[in-house]
Formats: sequence, C-alpha cells, structure tokens
Amino acid sequence: MSRSVPVITIDGPSGSGKGTVSQRLARDLGWHYLDSGALYRLVGLAAERHRVALDDEAALAALAEALDVEFDLHADDLKVVLEGEDVTLVIRSETAGNRASKVAALPAVRTALVARQHAFRRLPGLVTDGRDMGTVIFPDAPLKLFLTASAEERANRRYKQLKEKGIDANISNLVAEIAERDARDSQRSTAPLRPAEDAIEVETSSIGIEEVMQQVARLCRQRFGDQVL
Ligand code: DC
Repeated sequence: MSRSVPVITIDGPSGSGKGTVSQRLARDLGWHYLDSGALYRLVGLAAERHRVALDDEAALAALAEALDVEFDLHADDLKVVLEGEDVTLVIRSETAGNRASKVAALPAVRTALVARQHAFRRLPGLVTDGRDMGTVIFPDAPLKLFLTASAEERANRRYKQLKEKGIDANISNLVAEIAERDARDSQRSTAPLRPAEDAIEVETSSIGIEEVMQQVARLCRQRFGDQVL
C-alpha cells in the first residue's frame, strides 16, 4: 500500500447516504472507488452459493481470501461481478445486507479482506465507503468523513432505493432491521462502527444530496486544494 496516494474515507451506518456520496465524489475527482460493504455482501452471497454456514469462521475467511470479484464504477451504478455472474442487484437485497452484517462480525473474515482493500489504493487517489475505513483500514487517510442520519430517515431512504430497484420492502420492517444491524455493527468487538477521532461528522437527515455534496466538496478543497474539484 502506498501511503503517498491520497485516500478519503467515508464511514457511517446504512442509509446515511455514504454510498451515493462516495460514488459521486470518486467520479467527480476521477479517483478509484472502494465499496467495502460490497465485499462483505459478496462473502455472504458466496457462502450461500458454496453452502458454507454463516458461523463457520475459517471456511468463510477462506472464501473471503479467494473471492473472485470484479467492480466497475464506469457503469451507471457500481457493477459487481462474482465468479463471472453479474450480482449487482442480488447483493443489494435486505437479506444480503443481513448476511453481510453477520459475516462482517467475524474477525478472520475481516482480516482476510484487509490486503484486498489496501490494493485499491492507487493513483490518483481513492474514495472508500464503509464502517471501519478511517479507524482500521486506512487510519492515515488525510480526509475522513463520518455521515449520520436518524434511523427513520435512513429507513425511508432505503425504502425508496429498494422500490426503485424493483425490490419489495416494508417500512416498519426496515426500521427494525436497520436498528438491529446498527446494534450488531456498532457493538461487535472487531472494528465496530464508530467515527475515527479525526473524522469530520456530516449530519444528512435534513439536507438533500446536493447540499451534502457541496459540504463534502468544500472539505475536499480545504484539504487538497482548489484544483481537485
Ligand atoms: O454498507 P453496506 O450496507 O453495504 O454494508 C453491509 C454490511 O457489511 C454492514 O451491515 C456492515 C458490514 N460492513 C463492515 O462491517 N465493514 C465495512 N467496512 C463495510 C461494511
């Protein structure tokens, strides 16, 4: 991993807007993009395909280590291909998210994915989206953001996103699932969801995506100079 390559880490809970913000920022900057949550979703999916139990930590870590995956941000959305199959939509279901949260709680799985995540750090720079990007994976990142929003607002956003993708959802189930997943992600002993000490918090409940992007662009210019955006 080259420490001279700039990294912007964007962490936060599900539905905080970090997926949209980080993808747009990576495109605007012309930098690489790492969706670390997709890696955990892919381990969960690969486990299902290879009939590996979600509590078999060693077998899941082996799957994570050997994951045959390709990402393409040039498509409209992030295109994700697992073992030659386009799984872009499959990994976004709530079931896939819940499986991801379970495998993500296993230390051996997290360790197995570290080198793969570091390999995304290439010139001209990297924007990363996750839970532990600023705390564990890229602790030396020069700009760390932590996006937050209320659980209700996050459930509403998730509902709209899923509907747009033609995936069935129920709003009260979503609020409950989001609360359950938040608890699991923030209470686990390895790499829990929390802001890095030097992260800047961006509260997104009451502001639209354009305003969030303006705030983020301002922070980027402050950190990297006016010429980056
Ligand atoms: O961001 P997401 O919803 O795609 O993440 C799916 C799950 O993966 C989420 O419940 C927590 C976990 N995750 C993690 O533990 N660490 C990361 N860096 C990214 C995601």
